[in-house]
Amino acid sequence: MENSSTEILDLSSLPQEKWWTDECLYQVGGFWLMPEVVQSVDRVIKQFKPLSSDIILASFPKTGTTWLKSLLFSIVHRSAKDRLAIESPHNLVPSLEMLVYAKPNQPLITNIPFSTNNQSCRIFSTHIPYQLLAETLNSSECRVVYVTRNPKGRPISMWHFVNKWHFVNKWKKAKEKPWPFEVAVDKFCNGTFPCGPYYDHVMGYKKLSMERPSKIFFVTYEELKNDPKTHVKKLAEFLGYPFEGKENVEEQVEEVVKSCSFEVLSNHKVNKSEESPNWFKVPYNSFFRKGAIGDHENYLCDETIERIDALTREKFHSCGFMY
Ligand code: A3P
Repeated sequence: MENSSTEILDLSSLPQEKWWTDECLYQVGGFWLMPEVVQSVDRVIKQFKPLSSDIILASFPKTGTTWLKSLLFSIVHRSAKDRLAIESPHNLVPSLEMLVYAKPNQPLITNIPFSTNNQSCRIFSTHIPYQLLAETLNSSECRVVYVTRNPKGRPISMWHFVNKWHFVNKWKKAKEKPWPFEVAVDKFCNGTFPCGPYYDHVMGYKKLSMERPSKIFFVTYEELKNDPKTHVKKLAEFLGYPFEGKENVEEQVEEVVKSCSFEVLSNHKVNKSEESPNWFKVPYNSFFRKGAIGDHENYLCDETIERIDALTREKFHSCGFMY
């Protein structure tokens, strides 16, 4: 990773829009970022030089990042269940913009951990859209994993996250002035949502997966939920860490799937903790809520479902991506 000095992005020069109460998002390259990450996203884009052995997990917020972090770590390091029992997936797989490049000086991670088969392998996560990160990701043979999730549930997960958890940090006002659900849906649909527009975020990585399937593993939360073992096996092969051995392949896969399941992960003391990591002032347990498919049916009226479905048809279906 390089440590070159770069220009600082001036927030006041960027288009801004309120997304809840008087909190603003800032537009960079067509995407809406929270002010806390504008500079660090800029640093990642300008300074991060991925190694060809790196794995980059990309996602839109609240689409299954925590789950994929635990799966990727388990696939690369095998038998990671003891580590997962004591460490948050977010500490095992650091975020480029939230942690590694959070400070203007030296990037935080300089050592290269060794994987199960003694190859060097670093795993990072990011919410940065492909449109902003294309040059970086294509500058090496690093592999990308992208997870996405049914758009109808996205405003719900974020709405819960904001209203329940952000009161613990500087956004204490969420307690007094909760984010109205209709506003969350509206902001999601018009794109003024952290890292939004969601549809452009997904399409950036989806198009890459259609053009260069060997570069990126594109998977949906729902596919993983419905058939975790098949997808974990495929993911391991894609990453170059296939499950091998004549007899116990199925047991190995089962162990990874089980140790990363919502039920097991969310019950570890570390993941139930109300403490916050020092890089993001929300408690560790805020990353676990329900972990279910179809929760939107409990929240969205028919009209909202039709509104999001129409948007989804318009944005996704032309390229054959169905939701
Ligand atoms: P819900 O709000 O629908 O419950 P992210 O990790 O990208 O922030 O996404 C959080 C969502 O993933 C939350 O969804 C959370 O409950 C769910 N989640 C976290 N860990 C999971 C796991 N191991 N398996 C399935 N879903 C998980």
